[in-house]
Amino acid sequence: MKIVMIGAGYVGLVSGACLADFGHDVICVDKDAGKIADLEANRMPIYEPGLAQLVKSNVETGRLSFSLDLPAAVADADAIFIAVGTPSRRGDGHADLSYVFAATREIGAALTGPTVVVTKSTVPVGTGDQVERILRDVAPDIEAAVVSNPEFLREGAAIGDFKRPDRIVIGTTDERARAVMRAIYRPLYLNEAPLLFTARRTAELIKYAANAFLATKITFINEIADLCEQVDADVKDVARGIGLDNRIGPKFLHAGPGFGGSCFPKDTLALLKTAEDHESPMRIVEAVVQVNEQRKRAMGRKVIQAAGGDVRGKRIGVLGLTFKPNTDDMRDAPALAIVQTLLDGGAEVRAFDPEGMEAARPMLPDVTLVGDPYAAAEGADALVIVTEWDLFRALDLKRVARLMALPILVDLRNIYPPEEALAAGFSYTSVGRSA
Ligand code: NAD
Ligand code: UGA
Repeated sequence: MKIVMIGAGYVGLVSGACLADFGHDVICVDKDAGKIADLEANRMPIYEPGLAQLVKSNVETGRLSFSLDLPAAVADADAIFIAVGTPSRRGDGHADLSYVFAATREIGAALTGPTVVVTKSTVPVGTGDQVERILRDVAPDIEAAVVSNPEFLREGAAIGDFKRPDRIVIGTTDERARAVMRAIYRPLYLNEAPLLFTARRTAELIKYAANAFLATKITFINEIADLCEQVDADVKDVARGIGLDNRIGPKFLHAGPGFGGSCFPKDTLALLKTAEDHESPMRIVEAVVQVNEQRKRAMGRKVIQAAGGDVRGKRIGVLGLTFKPNTDDMRDAPALAIVQTLLDGGAEVRAFDPEGMEAARPMLPDVTLVGDPYAAAEGADALVIVTEWDLFRALDLKRVARLMALPILVDLRNIYPPEEALAAGFSYTSVGRSA
């Protein structure tokens, strides 16, 4: 199969490299010349575990290549995936589809024969119809089936998620397109990943429903955590106690500072807009969005409380800035709101993140970025764990406490057993646990 991936970002690059690894010929096209130049020099534009090696080995076999030239790449492709961004539209929260439509027009103008155009980007219900209309306008004589094939990978675990998915959703009723998609995902047969064929609009909605459901699960346990603090219960035990019920399941029940990232926040908002447009309210998702938004600043206030109620002139150390570990992605990271609350309260903030510092620098210009976790603790009146990087799980707590002006630890990810922090001499605050 000759496959073209339009957009070499978190999803396009990982999907492209994995499809090449399955034996297909893949060209990843991006309009960002810097990104393409980096990839050609085997410099990864993003941090994703295992990606550099996967890209390198598939480039060496000749199955994976990169290009700025969309028309040349798509001319004789069996399938063209659109994996460009669909961020929140400024001002109203709808998904901004301008990149998808621009890519579609470019594809349409370059087609020379029948093909399959696949939207891998997360797009609202009905976008496939619009993509089809654009292709018909731009290339009326070409037979191009439009398929929805949403992606469910997580950053930080992207390669494993792509290669061993729980399911692959393929939205099209076109038999030729179904056959092409079956051939593309044929190598996953061994992993027994179910291919779920649906109508296109259904596939589009599955993606938003999945993300909104996961965001709801997290928000639910976060509110249970707040209640735990009031009634002297332990949220980790509650999560385990409910998660062992197969109907609930143990995943996505980690209480924390609220969900962030490039997808849950924008996708829950976009789903609400779709619901609004169709006069079919989604009150649960509305509550999830509101509760989560308030939670991030509330976590900042929690830190201020732990530091004695006032942080004016105090130094606060922050461990972890990215929205989750094993990524350099700072989009909608809870750290942004938490740090802003601390800065607004008059604190001096010193922070460290293993991979996110470059992306964080322009977003947090008033924060001093330091070179390691111990430097963030130095002279601090409180230390906050915002992201659960492995590196923060085995700190020498006694050393950390000695370095600090006051040994106050706020663990927003519950990575330490309270006894351990207390034994190291800390005043310890976590989420949904009494210590
Ligand atoms: P990203 O911003 O990392 O990458 C998008 C890339 O597309 C950029 O490199 C950009 O330069 C390129 N691009 C835009 N217009 C183009 C055009 N006309 N031609 C060529 N290249 C173009 O975005 P992402 O995080 O990979 O997300 C892409 C889509 O996948 C979104 O819809 C997102 O919701 C969805 N998604 C993301 C994840 C994730 O973990 N990040 C997971 C599942 C689904
Ligand atoms: C999420 C989904 O998990 C993917 O299936 C989906 O493809 C992707 O969004 C997308 O559409 O882009 P991702 O955002 O990369 O993936 O990362 P997650 O592991 O889902 O974490 C999202 C946020 O929820 C993070 O801020 C994380 O800290 C938080 N989270 C997650 C919790 O607070 N508790 C949990 O138990 C799990």
